[in-house]
Amino acid sequence: METTTNNTIASAIAGKFRTIFNAEPLVVRSPGRVNLIGEHTDYNDGFVLPAAINKAIYVAAAVSNNDRCHFVAADMNEEYKTDVNNLQKIEGHWSVYINSVIDQLQKAGYTIGGFNCVIGGDIPTGAGMSSSAAVECAVLFALNELFALGLDKMAMVKMAQQAENKYVGVQCGIMDQFASMFGKKDHVIKLDCRSLEYEYKPFDMKGIRIVLFDTNIKHSLASSEYNTRRLQCEAGVAMVQQQYPEVKKLRDVTLAMLDEIVLPRDEKVYLRCSFIVEEIQRLQDACIDLELHDMVSFGEKMFATHKGLSELYDVSCKELDFMVDFVKNEPAVLGARMMGGGFGGCSINLVKEEAIEALSGRIEAAYKVAFGIEMKVYIATIENGTSIVGAEKMQVA
Ligand code: GLA
Repeated sequence: METTTNNTIASAIAGKFRTIFNAEPLVVRSPGRVNLIGEHTDYNDGFVLPAAINKAIYVAAAVSNNDRCHFVAADMNEEYKTDVNNLQKIEGHWSVYINSVIDQLQKAGYTIGGFNCVIGGDIPTGAGMSSSAAVECAVLFALNELFALGLDKMAMVKMAQQAENKYVGVQCGIMDQFASMFGKKDHVIKLDCRSLEYEYKPFDMKGIRIVLFDTNIKHSLASSEYNTRRLQCEAGVAMVQQQYPEVKKLRDVTLAMLDEIVLPRDEKVYLRCSFIVEEIQRLQDACIDLELHDMVSFGEKMFATHKGLSELYDVSCKELDFMVDFVKNEPAVLGARMMGGGFGGCSINLVKEEAIEALSGRIEAAYKVAFGIEMKVYIATIENGTSIVGAEKMQVA
């Protein structure tokens, strides 16, 4: 039986902290996420349906009593030192995800002193499970405790998203940070990305597991194309607004408006926007499936989402399409689609439990033949969001 906290990792991170800094740390766990349906809808004020999972980032941290910071990335055996008031950004370096939240806190007027931390975990990077959001949430949650900043979880989610937008430079929506922070065991979260109202929905897992097939590749255009998609959505909204000034985001747009206004002007923008408008509706329909416990119908919508992401939104790639095509006619697979921003990472699959092993073996072999790459398989369980790891739990390992 898996528990939310991976005691082995939490103990190892805490132990490393004690060895290096000779002090007792606060340990925070912040998980990665899956998203069942509702992709690229968050920054269009739509809905998403994510869940926090059994893979997480752990940060062990304590104040340093001066302005110096010393960060250690346990999995890479690397360290980074800085003055908390004079952050140096190293593009592409892991420290960016820690510095980004310090920067946001300072910009929001919070004063924090120096601190030391050891960070590590088991979320594979580049696999589309939001390891960067998990780092941001874990560090922010820890700093909020260490410096008694009084931020609630929602404030931290918004700040972590800003950290990614403003400091890291990816114009992501709010889904990843929200899911990491607010996850609830055995529930998906239906989040309205406009009002930020959310609802936990039990996810019916009887005999079904969430299986992630990791392509083990991340194409380099992922973040630039992500930002481009955002701009294309905004361009579509700007066109529609000329005739319908009340429209704020694609959430307010109908397919009829797109046909009338966008299609004659820009076909590419039309394709992008029509996917989003359909996807927002598809999520609403999928939530009805959940209520009716109709996982077959839910799964069909996942396949439809993949088709849209691949053909209309154009954020898939041949490796992800392969993963989804391979399972399309498998009776044991209820639904499958690429997950997250795209251009690599994982597909998410709903698979009947008894078939997982055999199916994984077959897809691994076929993927190796097709691309010469070893893929990975993860079984995701739905776990709680960001929290402090209790000292007593860590002793268990
Ligand atoms: C990335 C972003 C999210 C979201 C997804 C696509 O994970 O960080 O905000 O836009 O892509 O749904």
